[in-house]
Amino acid sequence: MNSLRYSYLAAVMSMIVLSGCSSPPGQRRETSEILAPNEVTDSRTLYAENCAGCHGSEGRGGAAIALADPVYFAIANDASIRKVVANGVKGTSMPAFAQSAGGMLTNKQIDLITTEMRSRWSRPEILNGANPPAYAANSAGNARQGEVVYGTYCASCHGSQGQGARKGSAITNDSFLALVSDQGLRTIIITGRPELGAPDWRGNVPGKPMSDQEITDVVAWIATHRVQTPGQPYSASNYAQQQE
Ligand code: HEC
Ligand code: HEC
Repeated sequence: MNSLRYSYLAAVMSMIVLSGCSSPPGQRRETSEILAPNEVTDSRTLYAENCAGCHGSEGRGGAAIALADPVYFAIANDASIRKVVANGVKGTSMPAFAQSAGGMLTNKQIDLITTEMRSRWSRPEILNGANPPAYAANSAGNARQGEVVYGTYCASCHGSQGQGARKGSAITNDSFLALVSDQGLRTIIITGRPELGAPDWRGNVPGKPMSDQEITDVVAWIATHRVQTPGQPYSASNYAQQQE
């Protein structure tokens, strides 16, 4: 290698070294320190790094419901919210965040996220005296009654059998049901999805809020459309027979 080129290379390298790093090699600079997930103590960072991908930045909604919804915080208490965040929801994409459940967040961080979400996104007066349905169902519900309820409150937007129509998507489709729990359905029916224009339990039929029992029953009816092998044209047993 000729010496001119060699000294040019050396000069470039020393520039890189000088500009890139102001502290001696091997020593970390304070500002570039990257925190491990369980060391983050800022609630907004915790939300942005762990939740925004599904629930939207600032809780505005995405693949999963918008959490920045005061109606949601009026019906769900901290204990229920905390439980979901810690343990996730089996059979859906909602992950378990607690270290005790295989996640990466400490109990303290989960408490922090839970309290912070409420302080940012709840508005205690939002229901203004309305008597909201219970967050969780207190019975299994009657699917046959639920079909009638569906016709009254939902068919106008989601189609006669929940197959989807102009004003609302398919909600009895087996693939959709593979992504959502019964509680997830109940939550959406109570709170609506305001970010997408879906009414809450009071707005499906104006002036006729749904009763707690009606909500329980319609969830039971929707759930009867769950299948063993979602997204597949054949049930698991049919498929096995075909392979024989
Ligand atoms: C990979 C996607 C994903 C991520 C990441 C995620 N969620 Fe969820 N979350 C979901 C889905 C899907 C549901 C609905 C589950 C169901 O059907 O019950 C859900 C449900 C919830 C619920 C319960 C809603 C109800 O019905 O009461 C809460 C609260 C919640 N998430 C909070 C969080 C928080 C806080 C974080 C971050 C620490 C987070 N989620 C991260 C997908 C996600
Ligand atoms: C005025 C029209 C309207 C009525 C009535 C209505 N919905 Fe919806 N619903 C929507 C819209 C709009 C959305 C959001 C966009 C979409 O998924 O179609 C939605 C979303 C949903 C979702 C979530 C779908 C998803 O992809 O995340 C469920 C579940 C649902 N509705 C169930 C019901 C049930 C059950 C009823 C009756 C109790 C009902 N809706 C009544 C308009 C309506």
